[in-house]
Amino acid sequence: MKIAVIGTGYVGLVTGTCFADSGNHVICVDNNPDKLDLLRQGEVPIYEPGLETLFKRAIREKRITFTDDLSEAVKQSDILFLCLPTPPGADGQADLSAVVKVAEQIGDLIDDYKVIVNKSTVPVGTADKVRLTIESRTSVPFDVVSNPEFLREGAAVNDFQKPERVVIGTSSDRAAELMKELYDPFVRSGNPIIIMDERSSEMTKYAANGFLATKITFMNEIANICERVGANVDHVRRGIGTDSRIGKRFLFAGIGFGGSCFPKDVQALHYTAKENDYNFRILDAVQKVNDSQKLSIVEKIKKFYNGQVKGRTFGVWGLTFKPETDDVREAPAIYIIQALIGLGAHVKAYDPEARKTFPAAVGEEISSQIDYVEDQTSALQDVDALIISTEWNEFRRPDFDNFIKLMKEPVIFDGRNLYDLERMEELNITYFSVGRRGVNVNRKVTNA
Ligand code: UDX
Repeated sequence: MKIAVIGTGYVGLVTGTCFADSGNHVICVDNNPDKLDLLRQGEVPIYEPGLETLFKRAIREKRITFTDDLSEAVKQSDILFLCLPTPPGADGQADLSAVVKVAEQIGDLIDDYKVIVNKSTVPVGTADKVRLTIESRTSVPFDVVSNPEFLREGAAVNDFQKPERVVIGTSSDRAAELMKELYDPFVRSGNPIIIMDERSSEMTKYAANGFLATKITFMNEIANICERVGANVDHVRRGIGTDSRIGKRFLFAGIGFGGSCFPKDVQALHYTAKENDYNFRILDAVQKVNDSQKLSIVEKIKKFYNGQVKGRTFGVWGLTFKPETDDVREAPAIYIIQALIGLGAHVKAYDPEARKTFPAAVGEEISSQIDYVEDQTSALQDVDALIISTEWNEFRRPDFDNFIKLMKEPVIFDGRNLYDLERMEELNITYFSVGRRGVNVNRKVTNA
C-alpha cells in the first residue's frame, strides 16, 4: 500500500519504518528541513532499540522516502497517518492546532478517496473534528480513522510488530477493510484487530494509560504503607500478581511514573471528564500521589540526615524516566535533583544516554550546578550517598567492594528496588528502597 506519515517524531518514525518493513511504500512528511536531511542519510534522531536497522534497510530498498511537500505525499498515498505533536495546552487539554492545520491542508489537496488516520493521542471527538475540517473544504470522499498507538519507549519496534491488539475506530466499512489489510502482517499470531467507533477508540487510549498509571500508583501507595507497617512490597506484588484478574505486570513500586504519555494522558483524561461535568476523582488522586512519590526519596534523605542535607554530595544513577531511552520527560530525577540542589546539596549525575537531553529538562540554572560524570563509578567518588532513580541494567550488579571504597559512607537510596535486603545487610550498606524495610538505618553519619 502507499502510505504517508505526516510528522516524523517518535510515533511517526516507528510507524513509518515498521510499515515500510512490512512491504509498503511510505512517504514521510516533515516541515523541518534539517531533520529531513538527517533522515535521508539514514540517521535516526531518537534512541530506540532496533529502529535504526529497519530504518536503514527501508531506505536502502527505497521503501521509505522523505519530503516537506504535503501535496506530493497526499497525491501519492492511499492512507495518511497523522503523527503530529499534541502538546498539553495551558488548561491540560491537548493542543490540536498542528492536527487541525494539516487537516485543512489535506482538505484543500485531496483529489481521490483517502483514509486519514489519527495516530497521535488526541482528545475524544478529534476524529469528528478532523472530518468536519476536511469536509468543509472538499467534496471528494474520504474517511477519518482513529488508530491509537500503544508503543512503549525502548520497546516500540517490538510493540508495533507484535501488538497485543490493534484498535481501529471507524464507522466506515471501506476504511476498516483497508486498515485490516494494512495491519494483517502484524497480527498473524492471532492477536485481535478490534474495530469500534471513533470516540470509543479515542477513549480506549486514555483508558489504557489512565488505568496503567493508576495501577502503578496503587502499588506505590501500597509500598508506602508497607514501609510503615513492616511489610515487603516485593512479596505483596508476587502475592497479588499471581491472581490473573490483577496480572503480574505493571505492579512495580518505585518513585513514580514519568515519560511523555502517562502524565500527559492522565491530565488530559481528567480534563475531558471535567469538561463533561464529571469529576474523575481517582485520576486526581493519581496525579497528586505521583507528584509526591517522585519526591519520596528526598523525604527519606531529609529524615536520615536529620534535615542536614546542605553541603552533602549525592551521586545519582539514572536520569531518564525509564531504561533504554534517552527521554527524560517527567523523569523523577528532575524533581529529585532540583529539590536536593534547592536544599544546598551537590550532585554528581550519571546516565548512559541522557547527557544531552537532561540539561534542558532540569533547567539551565540547576543543570549548571550538576557535575555530570561519564561512568557509574565516577558518580560514587567521595559522595555521602548514592541515589538510584532509573533501573538501567548496568546498575543491577555493581562491584560492591569497590563501590564502598569510593563513597564517603556506604549509603544508598534506591528508587527502583534493585538490590536484595540481605545482601545489603551482609555488606553493611545502609539501604533505603521503596516499600521495604530500611537496612542498617542507624548508621551514625558524619556532619556535612
Ligand atoms: C506508556 C505505555 O506503556 C504505552 O502503551 C503508551 O502508549 C505510551 O506510554 P512509556 O511511557 O514508553 O509507555 O513507558 P512504560 O514502560 O509504560 O513506563 C511508564 C512509566 O511507568 C515509567 O516511568 C516507569 O518507570 C513506570 N512504571 C512502569 C513503574 O513505576 N512501575 C511499573 O510496574 C511499570
